[in-house]
Parts: sequence; structure tokens; C-alpha cells
Amino acid sequence: MTDLANISTPRLILRPWRDSDLPEFAAMNADPEVMAYFPRTYDRAESEGQVARIRNHFAAYGFGFWAVEAPGAAPFVGFTGLWTTSFEAPFTPCLEIGWRLARRFWGRGYATEAALASLGVGFGTLGRDEIVSFAVAANGRSRRVMERIGMSRDAAGDFDHPAMPDGDPRRRHVLYRLSRADWIRSTETRGL
Ligand SMILES: CC(C)(COP(=O)(O)OP(=O)(O)OC[C@H]1O[C@@H](n2cnc3c(N)ncnc32)[C@H](O)[C@@H]1OP(=O)(O)O)[C@@H](O)C(=O)NCCC(=O)NCCS
Repeated sequence: MTDLANISTPRLILRPWRDSDLPEFAAMNADPEVMAYFPRTYDRAESEGQVARIRNHFAAYGFGFWAVEAPGAAPFVGFTGLWTTSFEAPFTPCLEIGWRLARRFWGRGYATEAALASLGVGFGTLGRDEIVSFAVAANGRSRRVMERIGMSRDAAGDFDHPAMPDGDPRRRHVLYRLSRADWIRSTETRGL
């Protein structure tokens, strides 16, 4: 059985959170460019709250948003992982895949590499039948990660994210899905 606490990829380690990740995590959550598609930036106390929620998710389910380390580059570049979606929508309950990296680590393929490993956990170790992801329609970078890892947009699945205020154009989200069968096919194509 895969060790759900520490997952290695060619360039990354997906691992449990350390208290020493907090300054970098808080800095990325305070970066308006990183948080452009979230309701607002978060301060240090809110970032600490997020880490607590992530740790609680790991305690409850054994998986979650892993802290991502890039050995030789940085001890913490952001997070990627699997989440039990906590709001109500037509497609919930479901298992979601998500990512957030500090700006200086964009453009290296880290999110895609970490996401592919997370899919391996979701479909392989956890044996799930479907994993979804969603983003503000204008969040092209996140949508490209979804497409690179083999997800397909469900055009009928567009929805209003309850965390975004009414009237905010970022409230409208697009939904992507990946079935276990399509994941198996895409791993064969990738030769994994
Ligand atoms: C979404 C997010 C994680 C995507 O980061 P990203 O760096 O664009 O995505 P990846 O890590 O997969 O990297 C892909 C890029 O790296 C490049 N790249 C370089 N080396 C690569 C490699 N070895 N393998 C794959 N891609 C590589 C790709 O060409 C691509 O570049 P491009 O953006 O110019 O097309 C990042 O933009 C982010 O943290 N955004 C803020 C938070 C957010 O919006 N989260 C999602 C909410 S739904």
C-alpha cells in the first residue's frame, strides 16, 4: 500500500505539513496574484487556520492537500492534493483535486507533476471512481493543469461557488471531471 503521508515524484515530495511551512504559506496567501481567483488574500492567522483545517482533513481521511517540497529547490513550494468537497453543489459529495503554488514556482510543471501523483492516490490507493476539479472560468493556468492531467470539462456542470460573494464575476466556476476508466487509459498513454 502506498504511504499516504509521503509521496515521491521525480522532482517533488508530497508530505505532511510542518510548522516551518507557515511563513511561506502565509506569504503566498498574501500575494494578490496567487489569490486572484479567490475572494481575497489571507493574513497569517487565516493561513494558520487553513493549515489546521488541512491537518484535520488528513486526520479524518488519511489524505488531503499535501505540502509540496522540491528537494534541491525549496522545502515548501505550495500544496497539491485531494479534498472532500465541503460545500453543496449538484456534483457533491465528491473527491476534488486542487493546487496552489507560490508565484516563483509557477511555470515549472510542479503542479501537474504533483497532481498526477495525487490522482494515483485517488484512483489507485483509494480506489475512487471519479475525481473532479473546478476553477473560476478565467483561471486559465488552473484549467490548463486540469487538461494536462487528462480531465475534461463538463460544460453542463458550471456552477456558482458559494464562497464567492453574489455579483462577483468570479462566482461562476467551471467543472472538470476524470473517471477512473479515463485515468487508466491516460496512464497507459503516458506509459506510467
Ligand atoms: C494553478 C497553478 C498551480 C498552476 O501553476 P503552473 O505553474 O501554471 O502549472 P504547472 O506547475 O503544471 O506548470 C505548467 C507550466 O510549466 C511549464 N513547464 C516547465 N517545465 C515543465 C515540466 N518539466 N513539466 C511540465 N510543465 C513544465 C509548462 O510549459 C507550463 O508553462 P506555461 O504556463 O507557460 O504554459 C498556479 O498558477 C497557482 O498556484 N495559481 C494560484 C492558485 C490557484 O489559482 N489555484 C487553483 C484554484 S482552482
